[in-house]
Amino acid sequence: MNHLISPSILASDFGNLQRDVEMLNKSEADWIHVDVMDGLFVPNISFGFPVVEAVKKHAKKPLDVHLMIVDPDRYLKEFQEKGANGITVHFEACTHLHRTIQGIKELGCRAGVALNPHTPVAMLDDIIEDLDLVLIMSVNPGFGGQKFINNTYKKLHDLKSLSSSRNPNLYIEVDGGVGDQNVKKLVDAGANVLVAGNSVFSAADQPLAIKNLKYPL
Ligand code: DX5
Ligand code: ZN
Repeated sequence: MNHLISPSILASDFGNLQRDVEMLNKSEADWIHVDVMDGLFVPNISFGFPVVEAVKKHAKKPLDVHLMIVDPDRYLKEFQEKGANGITVHFEACTHLHRTIQGIKELGCRAGVALNPHTPVAMLDDIIEDLDLVLIMSVNPGFGGQKFINNTYKKLHDLKSLSSSRNPNLYIEVDGGVGDQNVKKLVDAGANVLVAGNSVFSAADQPLAIKNLKYPL
């Protein structure tokens, strides 16, 4: 499959959220990445339900909701009701991950698990068949605009080989420090969904930045 682009609205201009979502609607973006942070799982607070609802009101593309929160089971239903099409929870934040994944699927959402930079892909060995998506964090979660961690390529290779044999339709998403400079290498390593925050929203021509990620030279 051709890789998908999921721009992160964490890097958008919140004072002009409708304008930025409408830009994404008209662009080559496939999904809209929505980063929810609780100030506990990660050392930052981003936004919650009212903002997800506001994005949904204007979005014509699926919302790819990335929950960087502890005990996400408490809020799955409400995120689905506010408009999430896919929900990704962190491996490190779920005591009963299998139950959480089934809960996301029962809501009719695509179910994803995110791995922090220190969590090996092998931790998913007993759940890989149940997942729709795995998100490999290529920075420590909590902030946009951080430096890409090079060990990500090795993890993408590990995940690609696990998915090839056990779950060939898996979405393999990479999140953090993605831009022109590494897009080709990431796709070659197995990524098929690229999240991009600053490389899109700090560009002078944002739709062009998205197009260049979608169709790298
Ligand atoms: C980081 C978030 C990312 C972030 C990526 O915790 O999960 O989605 O918005 O931002 P960039 O692309 O700027 O690294
Ligand atoms: Zn994210």
